[in-house]
Amino acid sequence: MKIIIADSLPDSAAALLREQGWTVDARAGRPAPELLDDIADADGLIVRSATKVTKALISAAPQLRIIARAGTGVDNVDLGAAEENGILVVNAPGANSISVAEHTCALLLALSRHIATADNQMKRGLWEKKSLRGAELRGKTLGILGLGRIGCEVARRATAFEMTVVAYDPFISTQLAGDLAVELLSLDELRTRSDYVTLHIPSTAATVQLIDRAWLTQCKPGVRIVNTARGDLIDEVALLEGLTSNQVAGAALDVFQVEPPMNEELIGHPNVVATPHIAASTKEAQELVGVETATCVRDFLKSGMVRNAVNFPTVSPEESKQLQPYMVLAERLGSLLGQLTDDRVEGVGVRYYGELSEKKHDMLVGAVLVGLFKQVLSSTVTLVNARSTADQRGVEVVESQSSRSRDFTSLISVKLYTNAGERWAEGAVFAPNEPRLVLLDGVPIESTLQGTLIIVKNSDQPGVIGEVGTVLGKHDVNIATFALGRGPSGAVGVVNVESNDESGQLKDQVIEELQEIPAVSDTRTVRF
Ligand code: NAD
Ligand code: MLT
Repeated sequence: MKIIIADSLPDSAAALLREQGWTVDARAGRPAPELLDDIADADGLIVRSATKVTKALISAAPQLRIIARAGTGVDNVDLGAAEENGILVVNAPGANSISVAEHTCALLLALSRHIATADNQMKRGLWEKKSLRGAELRGKTLGILGLGRIGCEVARRATAFEMTVVAYDPFISTQLAGDLAVELLSLDELRTRSDYVTLHIPSTAATVQLIDRAWLTQCKPGVRIVNTARGDLIDEVALLEGLTSNQVAGAALDVFQVEPPMNEELIGHPNVVATPHIAASTKEAQELVGVETATCVRDFLKSGMVRNAVNFPTVSPEESKQLQPYMVLAERLGSLLGQLTDDRVEGVGVRYYGELSEKKHDMLVGAVLVGLFKQVLSSTVTLVNARSTADQRGVEVVESQSSRSRDFTSLISVKLYTNAGERWAEGAVFAPNEPRLVLLDGVPIESTLQGTLIIVKNSDQPGVIGEVGTVLGKHDVNIATFALGRGPSGAVGVVNVESNDESGQLKDQVIEELQEIPAVSDTRTVRF
């Protein structure tokens, strides 16, 4: 396993991955062409904000399975290209929230008390008390845009300063806001009531340049603005105009449209406090972020456990552990049916019975589709792009569930709808964690789902088992298990075999001779 750490991360992150015996290439700031070469055989990539994970970089990494952003915002990762290539993208949300919230408070205070200007003057030997008269935070209204992880932490701290805290966040409940003593307002109300506005929203198509000329013009005169979220949320030209006209009394910026910023006039403005994107740069946050990111990468590459996913539904470690054997079962059922059909697949139906009916179906259906498509597609299909692969191929996916437990605590039933009819398989997990087939094309049968299986369809008459055994024996093929099932339309045999041939492969002749047995109507080999 090879992991590239392309930006600066604490040593503990690399150490955690090296403990697995993996190769970790941790070098920040390497030139882009070098990174393109290094990533060619990498399984994982970890970045902070400096490295831009572009389509070109992703295309240069055919083995890449996970991109981890050591931080919150994933705007430096081309999520579309990652999904197209079936690459999981994870981040470390929350690990740096406290640091960012504290930095936001530092900026609120710095703005109100002219800390940066005062310090600068002192260093130049000046003692200009009069020009440095500040304003208290107490009694002022703080408008928070985005009451997420960081917004909430800022709200808690602002309340301690005895500020009135209001917020705009259409995706948050009034209950949560009420618990924080925050009043939820419309964007317009927030703008006209706030003495200070602080931004804690992501950069999206809906939020880019949200703070533009019109917005600033309609704010309370003398508003002070803090941005520790993303630079492109603010129109910097409009902000400078607002500062020049005194409509905006001050701005504290940690993030910029272009970083490092080009807008010298804005940075140099006397009422601007600027920091170089350091809100999350504390020893504590970087340690937490680094370890959390490396742990996500390790757990995914080692055992397929998905956490903090940006482009896939995420589950708790405990839930992931419970789901794991069913993920294997789901993938094997998809793979089995994919190998049993030569016809055009038009739809897939997945039904969950029993306890499984309450679990994360997106992951299970994803596993069925991975099993199915990896038989037929040359491109990489993973949990991340399994659904979109089905959509692109016009394969309809229908899911359903029933709390009825049938004969097993949980059961997965998969039907493949093809232009030539249906194929149907059901499976359950037997103790300790073994995926088992329990029904094939309506015939109850109990077979393992591993190694090599020969699946024989035959008419239900005496002597067939003997004949199958004779052909296999003749070709030196060991039978590990032989499962039989009988249904109204005939019998099914599932033979788990081991070939003694040097190549370990079953010769075509074996299948041909099985096919010649008069009672046998169809013989297939399935491999997992
Ligand atoms: P979060 O996802 O927990 O919270 C974002 C909140 O914004 C959510 O509650 C969401 O409902 C809300 N939101 C989304 N679109 C909105 C809209 N159009 N209007 C109003 N609200 C909207 O994110 P977070 O971890 O709190 O991070 C917030 C921001 O801080 C992000 O932009 C992140 O990239 C940035 N950040 C910066 C630094 C730094 O070093 N400066 C560090 C960490 C995070
Ligand atoms: C983040 O999104 O976490 C921040 O921008 C911090 C960073 O990684 O620099």
